[in-house]
Amino acid sequence: MRLVHDNESKPLRAVAIAHPNVALIKYWGKREVSANLPAVGSLSVTLGALATETRIEFDPSLEHDLLLLNGIEQPAGHGRLAACMNALRDLSGCDLYARVESENDFPTGAGLASSASGYAALVTAGAAALGIDAHETRLIDIARIGSGSAPRSLFGGMVLLENDGDGTVCEQIITPEDWALSVVVVITSEVPKPVTSRDGMEQSRLSSPYYAAWVDTHADDLRQAVGYVQDRDFFALAELAEHNCLKMHSVMLTTRPPLLYWLPATLAVMHRIGELRAGGLPVFFTIDAGPQVKAVCQTEVADEVTGALGAVPGVLRTIVGELGYGARVVGG
Ligand code: DP6
Repeated sequence: MRLVHDNESKPLRAVAIAHPNVALIKYWGKREVSANLPAVGSLSVTLGALATETRIEFDPSLEHDLLLLNGIEQPAGHGRLAACMNALRDLSGCDLYARVESENDFPTGAGLASSASGYAALVTAGAAALGIDAHETRLIDIARIGSGSAPRSLFGGMVLLENDGDGTVCEQIITPEDWALSVVVVITSEVPKPVTSRDGMEQSRLSSPYYAAWVDTHADDLRQAVGYVQDRDFFALAELAEHNCLKMHSVMLTTRPPLLYWLPATLAVMHRIGELRAGGLPVFFTIDAGPQVKAVCQTEVADEVTGALGAVPGVLRTIVGELGYGARVVGG
């Protein structure tokens, strides 16, 4: 197959932005590595305060895909980026290569879900450039090939991703307007993590004695969490989300070799959040494969939570924002 693009037609380019997301009920482990199918479903909030912007242009003069991440050229000819680009080409019938420029306004690879927003922005921009309908459900699968958490960043507010037969389904369950929640991202290190989520979760599957229990108890956590969201029961969701997060970290800690993503400041922030909640504030923590803490709170206490957590020794800075919208096209 060679170019189907007519050089006289308008340029095949688009710009999209997507926000990272943080899971309250988490994904850790795959049921199938080649299609990147998660072992468990997940429930996330989209983080309006952070964003990835991706510009993509399919160009007949290119001999291969080119990727610039934060201005630095990355290998683009193989792996998951290539798999996503090829899937977009297959879906559209176009076989041109593309130049992709992606910028994050937050630390990359430091447990802030840069791959989720990155692949959601890539798929959204790529689909727009190639004239693929944004509601095409196969875009969810293409984003998932890039990163298991990326389909969640296609949507805003709170998002549910579930296994469904041979694939996954992903949908928004509440909009940002439905529940006034904020997330305070507490940065304790800007250094990229030593073990990626992709490698770490596979090591956990192969070696943690707790991995099977994690998978077996997960569906109940997910079902209960969705019920608490529907009831807007913040404190019940808080207790369950922290439990699910600590269960995932128990699996990480019992992986061989161990995955200890926390720093002393991570633990100090967890304790501080516990004190704040014991004092009545609607706030809870969640932590991914990195040392940052995300404090989820009701928006009316976001300033108070930000002030308290910013003062914890070892905290470098905080970023606060409300729930964000799904990935969207912002330019051509
Ligand atoms: C700890 O989606 O980054 O953030 O599918 O291999 O790209 P891959 O993994 P990724 O893993 C996310 C793991 C997590 C929990 C979560 O976001 O659900």
